[in-house]
Amino acid sequence: MTKLATDQREPIRSPGVTTAMSEGTLAAPWWKRGVIYQIYPRSFADSDGDGIGDLAGIEAYLNHVASLGVDAIWLSPIFPSPMADFGYDVADYTGVEPMFGDLAAFDRLLAAVHARGLKLLLDFVPNHSSTQHPWFVESRSSRDNPRRDWYIWRDPAPGGGPPNNWISDMGGPAWELDPKTGQYYLHTFLREQADLNWRNPAVAAAMTDVMRFWLDRGVDGFRIDVLWHIVKAEGLPDNPENPDWREGMAGKLRVLQHHSTDQPEAHAFTRAMRQLADSYGETLLVGEIFLPRDRLMRWYGSAAEPGVHLPFNFELIENPWDRDTLARLIAEYDAAIPAHGWPNWVIGSHDAPRIAARVGERQARVAAMLLLTLHGTPTLYQGDEIGIGTVDIPPDRIRDPQDLRQPGMGLGRDRSRTPMAWDASPNAGFSFGEPWLPLHADWRTRNVAAQHADPQSMLALHRRLLAARRKRPALSLGTLAMHDAASDVLAYERRYGEERLLVVLNLGSQPRRVTLPDGTDAGRIIVATGTRERYDGTINADEGFVVELTP
Ligand code: NOJ
Ligand code: MG
Repeated sequence: MTKLATDQREPIRSPGVTTAMSEGTLAAPWWKRGVIYQIYPRSFADSDGDGIGDLAGIEAYLNHVASLGVDAIWLSPIFPSPMADFGYDVADYTGVEPMFGDLAAFDRLLAAVHARGLKLLLDFVPNHSSTQHPWFVESRSSRDNPRRDWYIWRDPAPGGGPPNNWISDMGGPAWELDPKTGQYYLHTFLREQADLNWRNPAVAAAMTDVMRFWLDRGVDGFRIDVLWHIVKAEGLPDNPENPDWREGMAGKLRVLQHHSTDQPEAHAFTRAMRQLADSYGETLLVGEIFLPRDRLMRWYGSAAEPGVHLPFNFELIENPWDRDTLARLIAEYDAAIPAHGWPNWVIGSHDAPRIAARVGERQARVAAMLLLTLHGTPTLYQGDEIGIGTVDIPPDRIRDPQDLRQPGMGLGRDRSRTPMAWDASPNAGFSFGEPWLPLHADWRTRNVAAQHADPQSMLALHRRLLAARRKRPALSLGTLAMHDAASDVLAYERRYGEERLLVVLNLGSQPRRVTLPDGTDAGRIIVATGTRERYDGTINADEGFVVELTP
């Protein structure tokens, strides 16, 4: 961020955007109607010129978030951290990383977020801490230290070497030998991220205190990092080999994570987290869980003993971008949600490739319409609202440890973590210093200020979609029914009471015919990816629109 005065930020400010939902929908909790916007703090806006985003930068650009029309912000980790994994290595769960600010800056940001009617979710990282966390420093100091059992220490295997065959998600063994005490500690991710031992009640209690600390400060919930990892099978048995693993595949895929993840005991901890969150009112817990659909659903818990409100649904990221696949997974996912649960959708994150890089710039508009019109709470990732696409990271600028440890395998996450582009000033207004990662090449034209001025921009499309979603309960709370359509065309009806809307998306590069559900006529087009205003029974290539259905 340049020392931007308010006047330069003015173009992205749209006052008076908050629109109450029509009555009757107000009974639904905010997170069912709402849209979550993920901020990656290192890359949002830098107020002090160190090239790294910070809390004051986020506060300065909150108008952008509010004027987009989202409801909640999820902040990736802001806690003190040696930054081995860019904040997912937490050295103090109840502080603020100095490069981001301090607790006072956090309180100011939280107040500013709330003043705009937005909610704030923090990133809770319960599976592992930094090896620089005082708990780990104590734990490693001797075998009989009272905190020894806060982490997962084991003797070497008979004959030497790691205690079992588990593999780190970042490649290589998941164990690190500590020469001083002669034992290995478990690290599911980097060796700088030691796994906490949730089977020790003192750890569970300390982590509960962490949640309470932030809830008491007023946060509205958490996104919970790798929740399905927190408990490991008793006895730490070897994981089965993956018969499908081939040379060239990521190292972590060599074994199946049967014994290292998704243990029944983790659900009990999740229920306890939920009870705590519920005791603070309408809070939200979103669990980061990568599992096949049937196992994912268990993380909702039961009506009597609920788990997280939203186990993240990554199916749009994990599957090919074609009509048949999407139509099937949308219908099946929706049908699989337990009666007390609520669906959700994710299309981008600081870990996944940019959606515009994956499907192309034109389809990215269709993807935005899909994400924001599906049945379930969407999570929108910063930068996708301006359509940041492929970014080439020169080899000497690669920072992601996952890429540096397993080079050339396409595992790099830097491409999704490049700075936001605010305007055409130096460094796109992100920083008056050198940004920690390069910007996308077309930042001079692909930035918030430029798109603010262009009614056909990706940003304008996002604002229209979010405004439509806010205004039309059918788009947020309504049921979803898939509708037969020409090839490449994905069509589904959203219905809430009398309100019926048909979402029509052309995933292909040919114009197609559109048919309406039996017994209905076309009313107004309420939002379109392009300039279409009237329904005429056709859809252009790479086009999407939402049309009112009238009896
Ligand atoms: C998931 C986070 O999103 C990712 O960025 C991180 O590397 C791992 N969890 C480990 O915390
Ligand atoms: Mg900074």
